[in-house]
Amino acid sequence: MALKGILRSGLIQLRVLDLEESVDFYHDRIGLTKVGKLGNDRFMLKGYDEFDHHSVVLREADSPGIDFMCFKALDEETVKDVIAKNEKFGYERYEVTDQPGFGTIQMFKIANGHTIGVYSEVELAEQKPMTCNPKIWDKEPHGMEANLFDHALLAGPNQGECVNWFVEVMGMAITEVLYTEDKNGYICTWLSSNTRGHDVALLNFPDAGKLHHFSFQLSGWNDIGRAADIMARYNIKIDAGPMRHGVTRGQTIYFFDPSGNRVETYAGGYEYFPDAPLREWSADRAGEGIFYYTKELNERFLTVLT
Ligand SMILES: [Fe+2]
Repeated sequence: MALKGILRSGLIQLRVLDLEESVDFYHDRIGLTKVGKLGNDRFMLKGYDEFDHHSVVLREADSPGIDFMCFKALDEETVKDVIAKNEKFGYERYEVTDQPGFGTIQMFKIANGHTIGVYSEVELAEQKPMTCNPKIWDKEPHGMEANLFDHALLAGPNQGECVNWFVEVMGMAITEVLYTEDKNGYICTWLSSNTRGHDVALLNFPDAGKLHHFSFQLSGWNDIGRAADIMARYNIKIDAGPMRHGVTRGQTIYFFDPSGNRVETYAGGYEYFPDAPLREWSADRAGEGIFYYTKELNERFLTVLT
């Protein structure tokens, strides 16, 4: 086994305005599997192709946005290593033990206002991919047929320091960067812990702890097109797409959930290996990097965050 340390993004908790309406949206339209209630104000869901207990938690709140994003580590040794390496940065750490099926999650409050978790223990889900003479799926996928929670674009200040934290503490690799005009800083940075183009991206933004979007993986272009058909049929507000990114080469649609959180359906993209050179984008080509075909970013994409 060559892949060690932090393996992948594995859990996200989002704030939604109306829990019941949101559970219906993520189940019926995006196609997630319902896992169950968590207390009075939260609900757990997962992609049909994920093994772990759950990957998405919706929490009813007064404002939309993100509570935290967590990463699965190969083992407890990795978690201890992350705790030790975090000392240099001095970010506040606390433990979360209230996610059913999960062992202790170590949470770190990083300098862009986001909370990033690391865990190594999680139980298998009741509904998970088959492993004995496996069919492609066990229970037939529905809605947009989201395979799994893929990545998130987290916005906030102190991006350079946070990038260093993901590289030095989490052991992740920068796959692509979009430089500021003077090339002395980053507008956006994409980071991977595996062979994906990214598990997380960091966007420079004045307000702390903001979510630009989070993303579900679909199987391919045809599925992106079918997702667009579902969005049109059910009057789901599309932000941009269907289209492709220059960065990561992913095929994509950005749309909004009923609370105003931006969600993405994502497919394709290149495979990343740690010996690949850094892919670099200059500020004047940002449009092409994000919206590869039209090459022009829309105002809403740049300003609407939750
Ligand atoms: Fe994305």
